[in-house]
Amino acid sequence: MLTEKAVLEALSKVQEPELGKDLVTLNMVKDIQIDGDKLTFTVQLTTPACPLKSEIEKRCREGLAGVEGLNHIEVKWGSQVQRATMNQQMDDMAPGIKNVIAVSSGKGGVGKSTIAVNLAVALAREGASVGILDADIYGPNVPKMMGINTKPLSRDGKMIPPEAHGVHVMSMGFMVPDDTPLVWRGPMIHGAIQQFLRDVDWGEIDYLVVDLPPGTGDAQLSICQLMPVTGAVIVTTPQEVSLLDSRRGLAMFQKVNVPLLGIVENMSYFQCPNCDCRTDIFSTGGGKLAADKLGVDFLGAIPIEVAIREGGDLGAPLVATNPEAPQAQAITEIARGIASRIAVRNQSNVLRII
Ligand SMILES: Nc1ncnc2c1ncn2[C@@H]1O[C@H](COP(=O)(O)OP(=O)(O)OP(=O)(O)O)[C@@H](O)[C@H]1O
Ligand SMILES: [Mg+2]
Repeated sequence: MLTEKAVLEALSKVQEPELGKDLVTLNMVKDIQIDGDKLTFTVQLTTPACPLKSEIEKRCREGLAGVEGLNHIEVKWGSQVQRATMNQQMDDMAPGIKNVIAVSSGKGGVGKSTIAVNLAVALAREGASVGILDADIYGPNVPKMMGINTKPLSRDGKMIPPEAHGVHVMSMGFMVPDDTPLVWRGPMIHGAIQQFLRDVDWGEIDYLVVDLPPGTGDAQLSICQLMPVTGAVIVTTPQEVSLLDSRRGLAMFQKVNVPLLGIVENMSYFQCPNCDCRTDIFSTGGGKLAADKLGVDFLGAIPIEVAIREGGDLGAPLVATNPEAPQAQAITEIARGIASRIAVRNQSNVLRII
């Protein structure tokens, strides 16, 4: 006869592919239900954007193969994103924010905001609760890319982030009058970041994507110091010069003890829709090369694509409007890679206690 004990015993031999422990030790097996020869259980993932669902299911099915009396298996999925270790300020001001992902670039115009926006939408589509913070003090354009043209409302003295494509959006652009050139100084950046944390009703946010200003100067440094960034992503184009930019980016994050999750190569190549030939407009392979040389992960490449630019201009990110497009799929894969790297980092803190 099929018993819960036998099921747990079998699943305690099934290794989670990334976390290096079995599913039972990791407390990932929930809600076991047995009905005659049919077993239903839920695997509680550390992120809904888990890239390894099918591998985990395969391992579960293999592990359960010899269990007596078992003929039908249904695996369900749940998820609980863990909160990264934060600083006191974050605990006090924004207890609902679990992880902060900084998107940076050494140079301007490499597609950082485009990628930040599409990553946020991709994570939300996977089922995570997501916010995006446009911290680009020089040219905040996330609201436009997300199709938001109103300022946030406030409730009980707190700003409510407008929502678009399933993502809560806040921007430096909401806090300054339009068309006013502003010289940002250190204390102003400090004040603005505090306002974003203390005076915004974020609710529960699994991932807050932060679009940093381009470059690796003081402004970027102070934002990373003020926000406890769980992990950073560097966006680069494939040219030779980007290696130098990426190295500067890495050095900046090291200075403030922010782990670099990896490098994304944007505008990687152009696939002609007419003749299907591929053109490497900005050379090729620079992102991978930079990642290898710096000893960090290469998260993926995104081609140049008219639909990506149009999505930005229209306020309708490609991942939201055409998630099946290969370019949108590439971004979703990168989002999953980021979520799983964060899960592994957060879990390794917990595993020290187990
Ligand atoms: N993969 C892509 N394919 C086509 N167009 C792209 C792609 N990525 C970005 N773009 C376009 O390139 C331009 C610059 O992108 P974006 O504003 O995202 O860059 P950025 O790095 O945030 O710039 P800034 O440094 O000014 O903040 C935009 O018009 C955007 O639509
Ligand atoms: Mg930008």
